[in-house]
Amino acid sequence: TDTEKGTYPHFMLKEIDEQPFVMRRIIQEYQDERDNLKLDEDVQRAMMACDRIYIIAAGTSYHAGLVGKQFLEKMAGIPVEVHVASEFSYNMPLLSEKPLFVFISQSGETADSRSVLVKMKEMGHPALTITNVPGSTLSREADFTLHLHAGPEIAVASTKAYTAQIAVLAILAVGTARAKGLELDFDPMQELAIAANAMEVLTDQKEAIEALVRENLGTTRNAFFIGRSTDYFVCLEGALKLKEISYVQAEGFAGGELKHGTIALIEKGTPVIALATQENVNYSIRSNVQEVVARGANDMIFSMKGLEQDTDAFVLPRVHELLTPLASAVPMQLLAYYAALHRDCDVDKPRNLAKSVTVE
Ligand code: G6P
Repeated sequence: TDTEKGTYPHFMLKEIDEQPFVMRRIIQEYQDERDNLKLDEDVQRAMMACDRIYIIAAGTSYHAGLVGKQFLEKMAGIPVEVHVASEFSYNMPLLSEKPLFVFISQSGETADSRSVLVKMKEMGHPALTITNVPGSTLSREADFTLHLHAGPEIAVASTKAYTAQIAVLAILAVGTARAKGLELDFDPMQELAIAANAMEVLTDQKEAIEALVRENLGTTRNAFFIGRSTDYFVCLEGALKLKEISYVQAEGFAGGELKHGTIALIEKGTPVIALATQENVNYSIRSNVQEVVARGANDMIFSMKGLEQDTDAFVLPRVHELLTPLASAVPMQLLAYYAALHRDCDVDKPRNLAKSVTVE
């Protein structure tokens, strides 16, 4: 069942493995009888009425929001700002005339996000919550809810909720684009199904990831994740996963920012994980890898099929360019998992962290 580990040693590994099924469940839940994308009409109306979307979230959900911004801007044509909830509370940006607030929260209970929701409701702004727990506080207090259908997530480090958030954000963007009558060259259900299959292939490659961890992350003090564009957002999440459960000091950086500071930290043997899933930045991210390798870094390139080179550490199955995070997140989660295992860390219950943080 959903709340038992079964034959798995840890909930985290079970939840990583559940991701292809979660994708397929989301496809089903957001489809009507004629297999057309189904998005609540009230949500459509709210999306069409707003002039700007403010995504508010924390932790992993914030990282999903960064990916979702791309979908909403590129497909639905709505400007989007993504804010860390605890920052927004104390340093509110100038709002547009017709803002729509979108809260992304696995638990629906994060106090930092709730405090923004309460304030925005007082100001009379509409709010949509995207959550894995429909009866949760953030869901009850918002005007609309979209359900993640990921099933209970028990491990403190979020995995399947993150990819579910990305999938539901893609559906929200396409549903809005259709409501607005925009032409899209993107079939979301077909592309999500392809991503689900890719995830299945990836979850079958645990040994390859474990070997990379053994060779490169076994005893390291720190690690860097670099990427550009969408890959950069997945790097932030990959680094967060690694630090949360293995306590390796990890940071995600935009490839082009390295030279403005971080490259000073590269020493002989420093692990640098690079994502290369985007064609338009494939050349530039690879030149960033060259820069760190020239300073002794131990590089591991995770590339997308079609963009790969011989020396890459790992090649991901091909998915639509917009949905690459659904594929690239899986090996990032597995890297963190095996790094934690290798270091004898408590994978499901890392020190100092809680599954949902209900204090500000
Ligand atoms: C905690 C968890 C994180 C999570 C964050 C936001 O810090 O440890 O894994 O990403 O809260 O939680 P939410 O339930 O709002 O997505």
